[in-house]
Amino acid sequence: MRVGHGIGDSRWMARARWTAVDDYFAQLLPSDEPQVSGDVPAIAVTPLQGRLLELLARLVGARRILELGTLAGYSTLWLARALPEGGRLITLEADPGYAEIARANLAGVDGVELIEGPALETLPGLEPDPFDLIFIDADKATYPEYLGWALRLSRPGTLIVADNVVRAGAVVDSESDDPNVRGVRRLTELVAAEPRLTATAVQTVGGKGYDGFLLALVS
Ligand code: SAH
Ligand code: DHB
Ligand code: MG
Repeated sequence: MRVGHGIGDSRWMARARWTAVDDYFAQLLPSDEPQVSGDVPAIAVTPLQGRLLELLARLVGARRILELGTLAGYSTLWLARALPEGGRLITLEADPGYAEIARANLAGVDGVELIEGPALETLPGLEPDPFDLIFIDADKATYPEYLGWALRLSRPGTLIVADNVVRAGAVVDSESDDPNVRGVRRLTELVAAEPRLTATAVQTVGGKGYDGFLLALVS
């Protein structure tokens, strides 16, 4: 691809540039992305983000992983790559159609279990064994409640990751009446007020636009 000539080249839109850079790194680094099929919206993490989730899980030595929001199981398959022999990954999905698609994509992957139903209804039924990594990626309006569950199901050293906290920058709008924006703002306030959490936010750009992760380590 012919590229522009640096900052100030208005012919190349930022979005196209992010996508080209995403494609460049994704071809070379996470080149072996997991394959999923099924008719789902294109809202899964990108390949580079999926690899980041895998690396984070490996960095914390995750043997038990919890995911909220499975969709087709794409991020699930990245996270599952980090599991050691005998490790477990539980993924929660509310939508019966997506759950069926994900079950097909996850069939035969060792240690992965999908639990169907709204997460607030299925979380209370999980064994109280703490998880080593918890990836929050279901409905954004409920992120504040999910943080409470994540803390309950954590131990010192657990890493909590929340997706889509930037929302193309909408997160800074304190007057927003978008329940997703309100959810991620409330999540951030709760994380900030929780002395057990050491947290940061990472803004991301790429093929899926402008968004970001919140990362919080439990102590
Ligand atoms: N983690 C996936 C993307 C998840 S998209 C990936 O990156 O590959 C968000 C998912 O959350 C959707 O599949 C949606 O059906 C699911 N979801 C929405 N509300 C939910 C709820 N209350 N409980 C569990 N899952 C929910
Ligand atoms: C959207 C993106 C996501 O990563 C997600 O988990 C849910 C929704 C979206 O762009 O609508
Ligand atoms: Mg997401």
